Amino acid sequence: MPNFQRAILTHGGAGSDPKDFDGPKSAANRGMDLMANGETALTAVVDAVKYLEDDPRFNAGLGSKVRIDGRTMQLDASCMTSNNEFGAVACVENIKNPIAIAHGVLRHSPHILLVGDGARIFAEEYNIPVTGLSGSGDRETPGTSCDTVGAVAFDGTTFAAALSSGGLEKSAMGRVGDVPLPGCGLFCGESGAVACTGDGEFIALKLLAKEVYTWLENNMSPEQAAKKAITLFDQSVDIGLIILTRNRFASNARNGMAWSHIAENE
Ligand code: GLY
Repeated sequence: MPNFQRAILTHGGAGSDPKDFDGPKSAANRGMDLMANGETALTAVVDAVKYLEDDPRFNAGLGSKVRIDGRTMQLDASCMTSNNEFGAVACVENIKNPIAIAHGVLRHSPHILLVGDGARIFAEEYNIPVTGLSGSGDRETPGTSCDTVGAVAFDGTTFAAALSSGGLEKSAMGRVGDVPLPGCGLFCGESGAVACTGDGEFIALKLLAKEVYTWLENNMSPEQAAKKAITLFDQSVDIGLIILTRNRFASNARNGMAWSHIAENE
């Protein structure tokens, strides 16, 4: 099977309505256009996730769920490449595009994860916008019923993955899920890229993205890996993932998921 020249997969989160695939599709188109114009897989996944953060149907950015106080949004986001670059933020409050700060952490910081006010201060230092969400309890959308948005891409040389999440509905202030933890919500290496979505505590405890990546390294197909990943969890756990290798891809979700892909062969 020939390698992809470039490819991208996007999703709107575990439990998102598959009929809302137009969101992930537009996000994938944007990412693919960027790569076709010479941009990297990292730029593509960050832009795709930013687009999905701006779509209130999905639980990230504008569509984020509120915490137990009924009004505060504390968001997590991350990005990674197969060059072992990683950047993430956790518990950033009322910021529309946390993926932009995670990208900034990857590019500019010696650290891999910044939280709360530290992430905000970092963003201001690098002129990354930190506005956009109302935290005053007057949100028009009460939050969606789905999870984390994500993207994985390959630009012919490098794999990249990105995630952004509004977290669990009514979760405790300060709760952090799988998204900003390397190897939990996402992982990339020479063999491919994996992005997970669903109940973060369960995903993190299984180091799910790294576990699935190891299966790819051992020549399991993405289709088999996507099926097997779901079986690791009890029926009550909401779970989904997208997987990309140099010449194949797969998606799977226990309770449905809006997702899209574009792949161009050499
Ligand atoms: N999967 C996102 C979260 O649990 O926070």
